[in-house]
Amino acid sequence: MKYKIAEIETKIKNSLISLGFEIDSVTINPSNRPDLGDYQFNGIMPLAKKNNQNPIEIATKLVELIKEYPEIKDASVAGPGFINLRFNDSFLIDFLNDSLEDITINYNLGINKTIFLDYGGPNVAKILHVGHLRSANIGEALKRLCNSVGCKTISDVHLGDWGRPMGMVILEIKNRYPDLAYFKEDYNGEPVDFNITNADLLELYPIATTKAKEDENIMEMARKINLDLQNKHPGYYALWKHIVEVSSTEVKSIYKDLNTSFDLWEGESDNCEYMDDTLKFLKDKNIIIESEGAQVINVSEPTDTLEIPPLILVKKNGAVSYEATDIAAIWERTNKYDIDEMWYMTDKRQELHFKQVFRAATKSELVKPELKFVFNGFGTMNGPDGKPFKTRDGGVMPLKDLLDMVTEECEKRLMDSISENRQEIAKTVAVAAIKYADLLPFRTTDYNFDIDKFTDLNGKTGTYLLYSTIRMRSLLKKAQENNLLFNKMEVLKQESIRKIIIAMLDLKRIIKRSFENCSLNEICEYLYKITNLYNNFYAEHRVLTEENKEIQASWLALTKAIYDNNSYLLNILGINIPEKM
Ligand code: ARG
Repeated sequence: MKYKIAEIETKIKNSLISLGFEIDSVTINPSNRPDLGDYQFNGIMPLAKKNNQNPIEIATKLVELIKEYPEIKDASVAGPGFINLRFNDSFLIDFLNDSLEDITINYNLGINKTIFLDYGGPNVAKILHVGHLRSANIGEALKRLCNSVGCKTISDVHLGDWGRPMGMVILEIKNRYPDLAYFKEDYNGEPVDFNITNADLLELYPIATTKAKEDENIMEMARKINLDLQNKHPGYYALWKHIVEVSSTEVKSIYKDLNTSFDLWEGESDNCEYMDDTLKFLKDKNIIIESEGAQVINVSEPTDTLEIPPLILVKKNGAVSYEATDIAAIWERTNKYDIDEMWYMTDKRQELHFKQVFRAATKSELVKPELKFVFNGFGTMNGPDGKPFKTRDGGVMPLKDLLDMVTEECEKRLMDSISENRQEIAKTVAVAAIKYADLLPFRTTDYNFDIDKFTDLNGKTGTYLLYSTIRMRSLLKKAQENNLLFNKMEVLKQESIRKIIIAMLDLKRIIKRSFENCSLNEICEYLYKITNLYNNFYAEHRVLTEENKEIQASWLALTKAIYDNNSYLLNILGINIPEKM
């Protein structure tokens, strides 16, 4: 099955060729003057200019040909050479029925690349905050979008589980619990009864890092422990594993609430297993240079307008850098998998880091030249005041608290009649509210957290979309209970329905642009638009009591098509639809 709009575009292209023009491709767009046409073609003016001809004359000739297409009811020339197109009802009906039969016609672009996605990026023993929320939301949605357009994906959480802070945390634990078996000289790997919780770790982490920063001796001890850890000192290594386990369990449960999952649960520590190989490879390539005691790779390019500093691989003190970790990760990934593109979803403030890493990997031929690196940086979620999001006492807002806060708000807005699973439903609604608000602005745009706005049942919100979609579902359920048909549209009588199907025709292009821009904002806008259009229709028609059975079946088919697409799109956004709300 084909994409209907693309078929018309091809026909217009062929008509233009038959009129003697050379043209590679034609695009038509939804009309911004619906009173004049459903879609419009704006390509005549540039074509006329290129061929030094009168645009109106070309447009007039083309319109005569277009009028003959079976899809077209009418075509006309407007202004300096715009062409307005009006579709036949049967064309719209066929499109709706095709998409009822196979929903993927609106999504599958036939792109079959393998895309590796690096998102999440939580840090062991450290609080999961709102920055990690955006990485999870955007990364997960992009993964689902990649899958729906036809790509294979490999996702990795890229756990921050390695480096000096681990030494600091172990040192702090050692101070507090010096008698733990992990710290015995003769520790030989036996299980240790040590009930440290995630809350303990979160409390301990800032204390441990502050102490080290304030006292050079403590820092030195932490460094030493970290070095021993990296050399797999049995006690430290076992304790570290224990900490990673406690942290990961908590993080996994939050990701589960956020419908976020990963194929790989790799950490920086896993990547660092390949550090020696990676460094050796880079040395053999002769691109590492010594600079002020550090080992660096020059990654600047003559065309840079802003200077890109050298990438520091190994620091003066012998420790490998965050950059080196990412390069080792690339080494590991490209050795294990056949990857076409590697996407990273982090705060846009990490852009320079990734630019350096990508350049170093490409320049050193660590990756095949066709491998495409994509940095999908995102803006910050700020507090309602537009300043970085903080708790009332000025601390970093833990993700869990944010989720709980929004869940509580959503619970208040649930129907009173819901008693079973009330808490769970509230959580599902809260996740929808958070995700939709998070994915609605263009990826790089900052936005302000506003709990009332995000959970408003009548706004451009996840809650509004859920509510409307659930209502579609219950209408279909009632229709089913009454043995009414809804698998096919037969007639298209109302203007409001034409508008809905015309909006639906644009979906595939929106999917394509979202994939190209690696941003979900257009999908969010589309969902809101189509849902509104449908709700207007719903308010005006009594579907279940309609007496004309042909019309009723068509209305139900429309409802089913919108419901299916809404569910599909909400799923791409990582949003689940509760039973009721
Ligand atoms: N753990 C990092 C942080 O919290 C994010 C990791 C991003 N991914 C990467 N491959 N470096 O800032």
